Amino acid sequence: MTQTPEPPTATDPDPADASAVIDPPRPVALVTGGTRGIGAAIARSLAPDHRVLIGGRDARAAAALATELPDAEPFVVDLNDARATAEAVDTCAALADGLDVLVHSAGVYNVQPVTEATREDWRQVLETNLVAVADLTRLLLPALRLRKGMVVAINSGAGMTPGPRGILYSTSKYALRGWTESLREECRGDIRVTGIFPGKVDTDMQREVQASRGNDYRPELYLQPEAVAAAVRTAVDTPPNGVIDSLIIRPVSR
Ligand SMILES: NC(=O)c1ccc[n+]([C@@H]2O[C@H](COP(=O)([O-])OP(=O)(O)OC[C@H]3O[C@@H](n4cnc5c(N)ncnc54)[C@H](OP(=O)(O)O)[C@@H]3O)[C@@H](O)[C@H]2O)c1
Repeated sequence: MTQTPEPPTATDPDPADASAVIDPPRPVALVTGGTRGIGAAIARSLAPDHRVLIGGRDARAAAALATELPDAEPFVVDLNDARATAEAVDTCAALADGLDVLVHSAGVYNVQPVTEATREDWRQVLETNLVAVADLTRLLLPALRLRKGMVVAINSGAGMTPGPRGILYSTSKYALRGWTESLREECRGDIRVTGIFPGKVDTDMQREVQASRGNDYRPELYLQPEAVAAAVRTAVDTPPNGVIDSLIIRPVSR
């Protein structure tokens, strides 16, 4: 016996009405250090299919990039300020349904040699490159777990081999490597954790490093930030039952 179909109700979507088809919500990505350099390139590369939260201290730069992208908003906070960071996480409505991708790109360099690096220098570099990363991740773990999300830590070649006059930075990146690998084991099966190890990249940070060493700045020797963003995209696009543990990317010239 053939059943007579039920007549459509007022709440059924009209298939002829394209506006009745609602797109599924985009996955949410928070990129710290998203206002400049590598972080901005990562924000741009995730933007076509993510809602991107652009992290940074410069509200104007974060807002300017957010308006360029299809679905983005600023996430403005000094990550060295624990209380402000907790408040920024608590009050961010975009994180209410969880977080799919957390990229830690915010970082600082300090070229002091071991003989001159003060306690304050050590605290400042370790605070930004390690402590703030660990603390922000702790605050966001519930949101990441909700979405079976992933954490991407932008490390450095200096986190594997120390560079000249780079004891502060290198130590912070070795520690970040330890943290990344520990987090992966602690959260295995729960969230995915990737470490990206770029060589020198053409950004404000590299410009300052070369200037402080008295070197000419030769951008042709360095990676472009988009190359690092492509590596991050590869990790993000890896099907969910696989994880890229670590990925090294270097300029071809060196
Ligand atoms: N450039 C390289 O050659 C290179 C190579 C390997 C790895 N890396 C790593 O890649 C990452 C990005 O480097 P980059 O070259 O793109 O650096 P950059 O051009 O100097 O940009 C640094 C970013 O970090 C943010 N930031 C710094 N301190 C912060 C804080 N306390 N709170 C919030 N945001 C803060 C800055 O925000 P504001 O705009 O508010 O200052 C900026 O968006 C870093 O982790 C770096 O160690 C860089």
